[in-house]
Amino acid sequence: MNRLVIEGGTPISGEICVQGAKNAVLPILAATVLAESECVIKNCPRLRDVDKTDLVLEGLGCCVRRDGNTVTVNPTGLCGCSISEDLMREMRSSIIFLGAIVSRCSKAVVSMPGGCPIGQRPIDLHLKALRELGVEIVEEHGYIYCTAPEIRGADIHLDFPSVEVTENIMLAAVRGNGTTTIINAAREPEIVDLGKFLNAMGARISGAGGSVIRIDGVEHLHGTEFTIMPDRIVAATYLAASAITGGEMCLKSVRPRDMSAMLKVLRDMGIELKVGNGEIIQRVSGPLRNIHIVRTMPYPGFPTDIQSPFMALASLARGTSVFVETIFENRFQHVDELVRMGADIKVEGRSAVVRGVERLQGANVVARELRGGAALVVAALAAEGITVITGTEYIDRGYENIEKYLLACNAKIAREP
Ligand code: EPZ
Repeated sequence: MNRLVIEGGTPISGEICVQGAKNAVLPILAATVLAESECVIKNCPRLRDVDKTDLVLEGLGCCVRRDGNTVTVNPTGLCGCSISEDLMREMRSSIIFLGAIVSRCSKAVVSMPGGCPIGQRPIDLHLKALRELGVEIVEEHGYIYCTAPEIRGADIHLDFPSVEVTENIMLAAVRGNGTTTIINAAREPEIVDLGKFLNAMGARISGAGGSVIRIDGVEHLHGTEFTIMPDRIVAATYLAASAITGGEMCLKSVRPRDMSAMLKVLRDMGIELKVGNGEIIQRVSGPLRNIHIVRTMPYPGFPTDIQSPFMALASLARGTSVFVETIFENRFQHVDELVRMGADIKVEGRSAVVRGVERLQGANVVARELRGGAALVVAALAAEGITVITGTEYIDRGYENIEKYLLACNAKIAREP
């Protein structure tokens, strides 16, 4: 268990080439089990969640090789159809393997993934959708047993535009018999990346990125080479880190059009942003203004994943900001830790009321989940004095080598055992 030690007060300025997107690479790695030959995934970030996904692939009998930010998966040796309970509990997003394994093996056995720090994370919509595709599912003794002699195309209307449910349906239906239509599909850019990857493998998917996705089943999918999209949440986190310290930041290899809801909030706070082709240049020319009210919503709304880093930013803005978390029921665990650093935040149910303060003070704080941990890093960079953040294993799930990127932008940060 190691920790990050940060001395705040230095403007975070410089240029960052943003890592590949965690939430794109995870379903794309799951999709490789559907290929009948080797897949080469480029711009793959070095993250704990990716390492765990590699273990799932190897547990299924795939051969996984990593060379820097390139991962090569050879699925031809695939011989398993189950995922260990440990891995399912450690990384609940392994549930997106279910559709791919059932499609490839006509059966699958996984343990219930369980919740995580930010909420109960039920999988009822996953199972309901797979049943509509003809998958027979028995849930007993904490395990999920799936059998599907054939996957039948269906029209599936989602009660909620769930990202991973949309992905699971795409992965299950892509080699199914007939056409599947997902209505009320999630519209996140990571869904578009998965659709592009599957089509590069020979799939016939249209409409990804919209609310209706059509999947015409095909018999065979071949390997391909693919470059993962940039991580929009990591990009916005570094913008917050620079803005809270009054720095100037240039982000490279980003897609501003994926970030419009987040960039709007930054502009509303008085932050200057110049958006170019694949880059964003940010500077702070005056005191930060409050965000009157912001609600987390499915894409293209304000992303739940950036709620906590932007709350850290708002804690030093002038005036009162209100954050309403509509997606997850327990995504305010960073609040107590920010209050320890001098923030003035009151949680009322799904809302957090943030009254801007003059300064934050360094303190010993604990990261309890991925994005809440990133929020503590953002706050620590602006706080007076030293902050020690434990629980960095959560941060490392989604941020590649965070101290390396921040050190290159003048941060006083070190990772200690
Ligand atoms: C994905 O999670 C992301 N994870 C999350 O990112 C992200 O916060 C979330 O989408 C929302 O954008 C990955 O892509 C690996 P959801 P997902 O299903 O798909 C309810 C991060 O920090 N629900 O779109 O699990 C659930 O209770 C992570 O990178 C059901 O009720 O989120 C919650 O209210 C965190 N039944 C909501 O949907 C189900 O069967 C979650 O939205 C499934 C979900």
